[in-house]
Amino acid sequence: MIINSLMGPLISAGIIGVGKELPEKAVSNQDIVDMGLDTSDEWISERTGIKNRYIADENTSSVDLAEIAAKRAIENAGINVTDLDGIIVSTTTPDHLMFPSAACLLQSRIGARNIFALDVSAACTGFNYAISTGSQFVRTGQMKNVLVVAVDCLSKFVDWTDRAVCPLFGDGAGAVVLSEVKEGYGVLTVDLSSDGRYGDILKVQAGGSRQPMNQNGFDNKEYLIQMAGRAVFKTAVSKLVPSISAVLEKYELSVEEIGTFVFHQANIRIIEFVKDKLGIADDQLYTNIHKYGNTSSASIPIVLDDKKSSFKEGELVMLIGFGAGFAWGVNIVKWGGRL
Ligand code: ACO
Repeated sequence: MIINSLMGPLISAGIIGVGKELPEKAVSNQDIVDMGLDTSDEWISERTGIKNRYIADENTSSVDLAEIAAKRAIENAGINVTDLDGIIVSTTTPDHLMFPSAACLLQSRIGARNIFALDVSAACTGFNYAISTGSQFVRTGQMKNVLVVAVDCLSKFVDWTDRAVCPLFGDGAGAVVLSEVKEGYGVLTVDLSSDGRYGDILKVQAGGSRQPMNQNGFDNKEYLIQMAGRAVFKTAVSKLVPSISAVLEKYELSVEEIGTFVFHQANIRIIEFVKDKLGIADDQLYTNIHKYGNTSSASIPIVLDDKKSSFKEGELVMLIGFGAGFAWGVNIVKWGGRL
């Protein structure tokens, strides 16, 4: 109770700056065919919507991409790095398996003060979990400016001879700065879920405390992503349709009142299935999976960066994440409201 009285009234927390970074190397579907895989541009495009992805080279890590995205978001927000009170990095591919965290490395790279730094691990839903966490600190007045960066380099954890998995993923980073905005703007809702019974359908088996990496795990490629593609597809759509409907009902909103639906860019067919089920119109949807592939938790902020100049002031933007865990989440953001 003492804490409550110290905190004061709740503050509206919103996105005041956005940035992204992609690695230099573009890899087209044809490039994957040319690597010798038994696939085609047509197969990959039709089944996934992906035409191209960017791949980090051996000298580029997640924190390298995060640093550039972060600096762009800070510049876009018009604040100084020393104005930051916290950094949250969503990643499942940090520079180091255990420690130091990506957020601590990023704090030093960008020259932030000695501030709160936390990694969030929620796979492709990580951006939803990270902005939900960061916005609570702003909302309660505990922090003024929180940097949220979602970054993944999944290309380093795919088997480049496995045609069912390697064409899906690309690397990238997206970043936002959360800060106080006008009352009623910003991150309006936080609806996050998980169901660990589906953990096996998308996993990396070895390298953790259950099965530390050893020669056997290495030989069997158990340090790489294993995915049951059909099960992921079915689980994603079966969780998303009722979850989005429930969120709309809970906040007494209709599909038409959402300006833009921003889905995690996993697969165009998952997105289109949900779009059709919910009656989302073409002009309410923005996708860029054809350009970048599935960049895991970075995909939502990368969409925000691509689209930032065309969001209208006060537009309701729904951010929909889903992925390994199984975890999924929905946030509604009222865009703009800059003080
Ligand atoms: N090129 C050609 N053939 C392929 C390829 C490929 N790149 N990949 C798989 N196939 C083959 C399979 O080997 C199989 O051949 P077979 O019948 O001879 O055994 C056939 O295509 C059918 O395989 P399925 O896996 O059943 O193919 P499906 O139609 O389900 O498409 C896909 C596979 C695209 C992965 C699909 O299951 C899917 O989109 N799942 C969702 C997965 C996803 O989005 N993952 C992203 C990560 S998770 C996340 O971010 C939420």
